[in-house]
Amino acid sequence: METNYGTLVSLLSCLCVASVVVVCIVSGHYSQSIKFSGAEPGDSVATIELQTKVTASHEVRAVFSSQPPAFYVNRLRNHTLIRKIKKRTRYQGQEEGLARARASIRKAFSNLNRSSEIGGEDNNEVPTGDVYRNAGAFYQSYVEMEKRLKVYVYEEGEVPMIHDGPCKDIYTIEGRFIHEIEHGDGKFRTRDAERAHVYFMPFSVTWMVKYLYKPLTYNLTPLRQFVSDYVSVISTKYPFWNTTQGADHFMLACHDWGPHASRGHPVLYNTSIRVLCNANTSEGFNPQKDVSLPEIHLYGGNVNPKLLSPPPPNSPRPFLAFFAGGLHGPIRPILIQHWMGRDTDLRVYEYLPKDMDYYSLMLQSKYCLCPSGHEVASPRIVEAIYSECVPVILSDHYVLPFSDVLRWEAFSVKVEASEIPRLKEVLQAISEEKYTRLKEGVRAVRRHFELNQPAKRFDVFHMILHSVWLRRINLKLG
Ligand SMILES: *[C@@H]1O[C@H](CO)[C@@H](O)[C@H](O)[C@H]1NC(C)=O
Ligand SMILES: *[C@@H]1O[C@H](CO)[C@@H](O)[C@H](O)[C@H]1NC(C)=O
Ligand SMILES: *[C@@H]1O[C@H](CO)[C@@H](O)[C@H](O)[C@H]1NC(C)=O
Ligand SMILES: *[C@@H]1O[C@H](CO)[C@@H](O)[C@H](O)[C@H]1NC(C)=O
Ligand SMILES: *[C@@H]1O[C@H](CO)[C@@H](O)[C@H](O)[C@H]1NC(C)=O
Repeated sequence: METNYGTLVSLLSCLCVASVVVVCIVSGHYSQSIKFSGAEPGDSVATIELQTKVTASHEVRAVFSSQPPAFYVNRLRNHTLIRKIKKRTRYQGQEEGLARARASIRKAFSNLNRSSEIGGEDNNEVPTGDVYRNAGAFYQSYVEMEKRLKVYVYEEGEVPMIHDGPCKDIYTIEGRFIHEIEHGDGKFRTRDAERAHVYFMPFSVTWMVKYLYKPLTYNLTPLRQFVSDYVSVISTKYPFWNTTQGADHFMLACHDWGPHASRGHPVLYNTSIRVLCNANTSEGFNPQKDVSLPEIHLYGGNVNPKLLSPPPPNSPRPFLAFFAGGLHGPIRPILIQHWMGRDTDLRVYEYLPKDMDYYSLMLQSKYCLCPSGHEVASPRIVEAIYSECVPVILSDHYVLPFSDVLRWEAFSVKVEASEIPRLKEVLQAISEEKYTRLKEGVRAVRRHFELNQPAKRFDVFHMILHSVWLRRINLKLG
């Protein structure tokens, strides 16, 4: 439950500057007397007592005890020490804000009655129910994020590979996130880098693959080099990377090669927050600091109209389960081998016959099979959620999106690869009552996987940011 930032805080609260007499500020005390003996080296010596007042909004004001010689005033106001105090109090202000957020989340966490208390005007937006690990703590954390979180987006670099990303097809979330954070309503963005809690490096691995990768070479060096160069530039030009060794910096990539590209900078790989669709723990994904990103497939930039609005809850679902897809990866061949063309209830296809419609089949099935392919993530999971077809997760080493907050077992089924031969039995063993609850769970979480333009509260953009926020404050919600 503790934060990574302890070191940073203690470092800052003992920042004493040589050549001036400073009584170290005890954190939480907001007023300080400083004696200057000469404002800068070479100045004639004058001892001036200066009081810095730090207001509630963490502004630093310099107040002189006696009127200093006119030529000192401006220099004193802009003295290195004052600048350092300003900077430190900003950090202190931020850290105190985060500490308050942590405390209020912890309190909500243990207050089991929370969800009945927090009615209010936006009642229907308040998360409740067993799809959440702890609905009250999530809500509190979400509200704290809305109140406080400030993201600095590096302006370094140029389109296409930076400040842009794909907005259609399978890696669409890269482009949509970058566009929302850069051109959305800006609630979370700050242009004052010193006030930021997290720093975003807005490059797109999908566009790196498009523009830097030579097809069929399997040489990913140019991608790694690009990431390495980007971090070099920002860490040389700005102080923020070095302050935390990148721990409050994040990147986002949906492309399968996102993790490979991130290897280009070992500190980024080990320390920064990597928001990745390819959240495979066997390939270095670390759920403590990395964020699992849902893969959302938008044909031509839009959600298929069939999936746009939820079907009536009692629409008939004649098929037990459905899958159609290519034979990549280790799990799908087992599925195809055991179930393709074998059973009229369990509809498993490699290529869907031309007269059949993929999304109609999802809408007609109780369960949608989501086996991993080349990589752990699959757009089927989100499509299943949109079609209110209970996802069946067939994937090893996959950290599911938003699982700090969501109880996936309340709206999906996990089946081990070894159980595939018994798949029908396993699914049939789920009672009608349990299935109904799972389906209600799917309805309840749908909004967290929706992409909106502009973004809406609790939608996928906000859930991604919330995952980053949780890592910044370093709290787990369950
Ligand atoms: C304060 O000092 C810094 C560094 O010496 C300088 O860059 C900045 O322009 C000064 N600001 C003012 C308002 O004099
Ligand atoms: C929760 O609410 C119930 C019913 O309103 C009440 O009896 C109980 O004491 C409350 N528990 C806590 C911990 O506040
Ligand atoms: C950050 O550290 C690196 C490596 O130690 C150094 O080259 C770079 O100049 C530092 N950046 C800043 C802004 O001081
Ligand atoms: C990253 O972590 C790995 C494994 O813990 C370690 O071997 C490696 O030295 C680390 N790299 C850096 C640059 O810290
Ligand atoms: C996850 O990573 C491991 C180790 O690289 C790999 O063997 C496995 O195939 C990956 N899983 C998927 C579904 O890609």
